[in-house]
Order: sequence, then C-alpha cells, then structure tokens
Amino acid sequence: MKLNIALLAGDGIGPEVIDQAVKVSNAIAKKHGHELSWTPALTGAAAIDDCGEPYPDSTHDVCVAADAVLFGAIGHPKYDNDPSAKVRPEQGLLKMRKKLGLFANVRPTFTFPSLIDKSPLKRERIEGTDLIILRELTGGIYFGERGRKDDGNTAFDTMTYTRAEIQRLAKKGFELAMTRGKKLCCVDKANVLESSRLWRETVQAMEKEYPEVTVSYEFVDAVAMRLVQWPNSYDVMITENLFGDILTDEASVISGSMGLMPSASVGETTRLYEPIHGSYPQAAGKDIANPLATVLSAAMMFEDFGLTKEAQEIRDVVNKSLAEGVVTEDLAEGGKAFKTSEVGDWLAKNI
Ligand code: IPM
Ligand code: MN
Repeated sequence: MKLNIALLAGDGIGPEVIDQAVKVSNAIAKKHGHELSWTPALTGAAAIDDCGEPYPDSTHDVCVAADAVLFGAIGHPKYDNDPSAKVRPEQGLLKMRKKLGLFANVRPTFTFPSLIDKSPLKRERIEGTDLIILRELTGGIYFGERGRKDDGNTAFDTMTYTRAEIQRLAKKGFELAMTRGKKLCCVDKANVLESSRLWRETVQAMEKEYPEVTVSYEFVDAVAMRLVQWPNSYDVMITENLFGDILTDEASVISGSMGLMPSASVGETTRLYEPIHGSYPQAAGKDIANPLATVLSAAMMFEDFGLTKEAQEIRDVVNKSLAEGVVTEDLAEGGKAFKTSEVGDWLAKNI
C-alpha cells in the first residue's frame, strides 16, 4: 500500500515523539512492502512564530491532500500565563479539527500486562480494562458563543449542540459497540443541562436501530468516580467535547502513564492520529519523553487502513519493550531510563 502522511510535529516534545513514530512506521512499512511518504507542515506555536497563524492554510492543504495526519502535540508555556494573547497555539488544534471535520475523537483505554502494577489503581480494579471514550470534538462549549460583557467582569462560554451533531457521534458509538462488547454508555449531565437532555433524547431515539446494544445513561460526575472504581465495567462511552476532554485524561492514569494512550480523530475527510498527552514543555528537547502514545497512534492509523497485522506488530513490539524494561524515565522507577530516541531505535530494530 502507498500512503502519503501529513506530519504535524507541533510544539514541545511533539517533534521528538513524532520522530519515533516515523521510525517505527517506516520499519513496519519496509517489512511489509508498503510505501510511506511523509509531508511535514507547521502547527501551533511553531507556526505562529513562522507566520503568525497556528494552523496556516498551507498546513491545511497538506492535511487535505494526505491519506492521514500524524500529529504530535500543541502548546507553549509563553502563552499559558498571558491571558491577553490574541493568537494561541491551541486555537490551531481546534481550527484543524473543525476544518478537517474531525467530529469524533476515539480514545481507547487499556492496560499493558507488564505495567499493571504501575497504575496508581489496584490490579483487581483495572485488570481487563478495555474501553473506548468517543469524545465529540467539533461542538459544545469549545466552539459555542463566548465573550465578555461590556464591563469586562463577566465572561461566558456556551455549550450548544444540534440533534444532527449528536446523532452522527452516537452513530459511531453504536457502530463501535457492535464490533466490541455491545455496551454503550451515554455520559451527560441531563439532570442539569438542557444540551445534555437533547443528547439523552437523541440517543434514546436511536436505540431501536441497534437492538443488540445495551445502552446506559450516566451522569458525568458519577462516571468520573466509577471510571477509577470499575473501569472494566465500561465498553464504549459517548460524550460531549469538554466532558470527554476531562474523562480521557482521568482514564489515562489507569494504564500507568499518560505517555501511553493514543487517539484517532475521525469524521468527514482525512483522519488524524495523535497521542492524548500534551506538549510537556518541561521535557522539550531533552530526549526524555515517552514516545509510546505516538507510536501506538501510528498503530491505530495502520489499523484504519485495514493493515491489522502491521498494527498488531506495533502493539506487540511496544509490549515487548515494556516487558524488557526499555522504557523512558516516566516508567523507569529507579531502573535504567532510556532516551526517547533509544526507545524508538529499539522498537524499529525489533519490528
Ligand atoms: C486534548 C487537549 C486539547 C483539548 C487542548 C490542547 C486544546 O487537551 O486534545 O485533549 O482540550 O482538546
Ligand atoms: Mn485534553
């Protein structure tokens, strides 16, 4: 197979972790006779420095022309403490999601056999966890009307959803559940929010189209608790943008490190693959960040192109590296900590 992949390294540790995913992908491609070409483009703070725009049109064109986008991370501390900044790196990510129509963010949570005791949660609670949070990505409070009232002392952000937006996300959720454990949990705050009541009503109306799927409806605050108490009771969750943002960070600790969880953003056109972690600026340029979330995001990419064996080989080599202690400092626990690039080299060599 011939694939043209847009390579958006972004900010902070983005370039370092992306490099390892490219190494591993190239090794897999070579082994199986695929041809990968990579087209780099700027996003985030790096793009602002270059042209004043966090997601320039030139980058969008590269993404649209590509078969898939592999993305690192976005964000730079110089913007975090400057509430008056007009252009922010994160706007680039939001613009990219919107312009590429990436309305569903697939965030799996699973455990690794050799890391099960590294999780802050007890083994018996997390063993067997295999859930997917399907986060709505182009609507809700992230994209609703926002602003300040005239006196400057009142600010507002609005959570708005249309039935159509909920339906297309829920459809993906039902379809995903059908390929797995046939359980779907709609996470909302329908006891308080009108938009949540629309979510519930819309999903309820779709239930009859998927009679094999068992649907539950739970409030987001309760899910925040149950997710760490009984993560292995969930299969597929669907939820709005901000709830999904928060719950997926929470879910990532189940696996033992935030540096491990991959994601795919899917929608109307080109799909995008990215680690769920951020740009981790404290580690930028030090060659210490964990590249596995990005490597596993590349595995999701191969899977979506129907290259199941290739994806599985990537996951297997990742498991092997963890079992053999070829890990970065976040997982080293006093043992030898490998560099980001060393982990990437090891993975590519062992493909
Ligand atoms: C994520 C990130 C982004 C989000 C930020 C960087 C805008 O936290 O992908 O989860 O909130 O969606
Ligand atoms: Mn987030």
